[in-house]
Amino acid sequence: MFLYTQRLLIRNFNASDLEAFLAYRNDPQVAKFQSWSLPYTRENGEALIHEMQDIHTPRKGEWLQLALELKETGELIGDVVFGVKKNDVRQCSVGFTIASACQKNGFATEAMTALLNYLFEEVDMYRVVADCDTENVGSWKTLEKLGFRREAHFVESFTEGKEYRSEYFYGLLQREWRTKAAFRNC
Ligand SMILES: CC(C)(COP(=O)(O)OP(=O)(O)OC[C@H]1O[C@@H](n2cnc3c(N)ncnc32)[C@H](O)[C@@H]1OP(=O)(O)O)[C@@H](O)C(=O)NCCC(=O)NCCS
Repeated sequence: MFLYTQRLLIRNFNASDLEAFLAYRNDPQVAKFQSWSLPYTRENGEALIHEMQDIHTPRKGEWLQLALELKETGELIGDVVFGVKKNDVRQCSVGFTIASACQKNGFATEAMTALLNYLFEEVDMYRVVADCDTENVGSWKTLEKLGFRREAHFVESFTEGKEYRSEYFYGLLQREWRTKAAFRNC
């Protein structure tokens, strides 16, 4: 699978991504609000890349994590992921990660714009959702910049070690994306 943006090639992972993938997954700043715990092992990285390298169209309940390659250098700078709902093939959740050195350069926005265009216009998704820790400012700012609507604030709803933490839930409909796209193209 390939999507192209101005600066990025969004593609399936392959074995040569392993070292760069392990490097940013093991960065405490990147992992802080994420689901994996540190250290993120080589075995985990190999298994994830192996699982992801041949998936093209995820089915109900499946995920597809895609590599973000900087076109200019061929460097792996992060990934985006979407997971199709178990009971509805037209709904999915999304996530994104950018290596620390490349953050705040618009890469998450650029990659997610291409992914959302693909999901809404090619896959015909009806609704895309995302969630994040309320303290993950970079994540919810990116979601809001993309046009997601904050739909819920769950207070101290999940545990991280012994600490209860809060999360935001976001949603975006196909028709809302299309309206926003029309404005973007004005
Ligand atoms: C969240 C993340 C993907 C954002 O990536 P990015 O490439 O830096 O995002 P962008 O450059 O496209 O920025 C999008 C918007 O968010 C803002 N933003 C990004 N990081 C921010 C931060 N740490 N604090 C405040 N605002 C931030 C940007 O300023 C921009 O808004 P603006 O254009 O109005 O100024 C990145 O910080 C990351 O990988 N974090 C660790 C992994 C993670 O937590 N992923 C999300 C899991 S839910």
